[in-house]
Amino acid sequence: YVIGLDLGTSSIKGILTDRQGTIAAEESESYPIYHEQDGHSEQDPEDWVRQTKSVLKKLIQNNNLDGGDIKGISFSGQMHGLVLLDGDHNPLRRAILWNDTRTSREVKEIEEAVGQEKLWEITKNSPLEGFTLPKILWVKKHEPDVFARAEMFLLPKDYVRYRLTGQAGMDLSDAAGTLLMDLNTNEWSTAVLEAFDLPSSLCPPLFPATEHCGGMLEEAAQETGCSSSVMIFAGGADNACGAVGAGILEKGKTMCSIGTSGVLLSYAGGEKTHFNGKLHFFNHAPADTYYAMGVTLAAGYSLQWFKENFLKDDDFSEMVQKTESVPAGARGLLFTPYITGERTPHNDALARGSFIGMDSSHTKNEFVKAIMEGITFSLKESLNLIEQNGMGVDTIVSIGGGAKSKAWLQMQADIFGKEVVSLRNEQGPAMGAAIIAAAGCGWFESLQEAAVVFVQNDVSVMPDPEKTKRYEQIFALYQQVYTQTKDITK
Ligand code: XUL
Repeated sequence: YVIGLDLGTSSIKGILTDRQGTIAAEESESYPIYHEQDGHSEQDPEDWVRQTKSVLKKLIQNNNLDGGDIKGISFSGQMHGLVLLDGDHNPLRRAILWNDTRTSREVKEIEEAVGQEKLWEITKNSPLEGFTLPKILWVKKHEPDVFARAEMFLLPKDYVRYRLTGQAGMDLSDAAGTLLMDLNTNEWSTAVLEAFDLPSSLCPPLFPATEHCGGMLEEAAQETGCSSSVMIFAGGADNACGAVGAGILEKGKTMCSIGTSGVLLSYAGGEKTHFNGKLHFFNHAPADTYYAMGVTLAAGYSLQWFKENFLKDDDFSEMVQKTESVPAGARGLLFTPYITGERTPHNDALARGSFIGMDSSHTKNEFVKAIMEGITFSLKESLNLIEQNGMGVDTIVSIGGGAKSKAWLQMQADIFGKEVVSLRNEQGPAMGAAIIAAAGCGWFESLQEAAVVFVQNDVSVMPDPEKTKRYEQIFALYQQVYTQTKDITK
């Protein structure tokens, strides 16, 4: 067996798979998020370590396995979170997470000090509150005593792996989201470090997501029931692992993940490019490959917001199913999902959502349909940016909540104008981590080969040309809404 661990924002999930990629067991443990001030979002790295060990122990004990039955372990992790360590590699404070927004000022400072164009050239990304560099600068400014003792920083899953192996380091797919890495060389950027007077010693060694990081420390092995000779592989960022777990490992393959937030991610191979900061561009899990990605902040969250406020008693899947009889375009009702600001393509924390075209005859099913369409239009903006930059997109693999209903799969196919497939036994990023471990153990020659066995398509949906045409007209209107209304909150 191998174990794929996904260190998420609310919980750690572990899956146990055999050589055929069959899921033999699944366990998870949760941990708290601390929101002590407005915009702050922190976690205690010790919680991650304790709960990771608990998941490993349960996977072994509950399935009557011996430590030796587990050949390999790898990780997927929430991106960008800052874990600052002292000289003994002990955390100096709680980790500041990807969804913490205290760093708007630092983001401006980064733009001014390095310059937009130069940042795009070096890091291939625009600075965002969520990324790691702004968090480091925030600690430097607001907690100088803490910063003075900082000797190294790690990202969440890299810290957990350090505690299991004793080897500190960071994988490239996660390092790409720090804003401190030069994506042209895949090394820490001296230019960016120098611009903020940060010592390069703060930055850990870098390696690909597929790197073998050694065995497990004796003490951790005893606590979890693993063998100390189990092979531990670096693992990658949750989006990279989600893509591996959806088989996004060749040109033309694109993933659309609709969960609380939405992600549209496309394989870029070895070609490096930046999109004037409009999309994220990060290292993928296979060495020397990359992907481009756009994010819709309030995807499933828009539906959840509507359901909680207006439809309390309805069940989610029932609510989505009922939209099947509503015509494309919800009889003129249009929704933009910027209810918590938007990342792609506007990168505007102050953007706000809207319902436009309301008629007194509109019903709640039409509102739900309009919300689903608005979310999918937002993801189409990312898809268009990817295609306009010359990256071909053929099939779209749909994962998350959006893949669970036939109605939404069909809507994605119609709005994107592409074939959309869902996966059998979808496991998200944990599956990507399991694939990294399976290939690392030598069961397969490459992640691609492993994915052929581990990732199976389920339903395939083709676009209905009539509806695609109708949606193209509505999408043109959708795109005008932000431009025409963005000053409303400013
Ligand atoms: C990516 C991002 C999120 C986190 C969630 O830029 O911020 O997808 O990785 O875990």
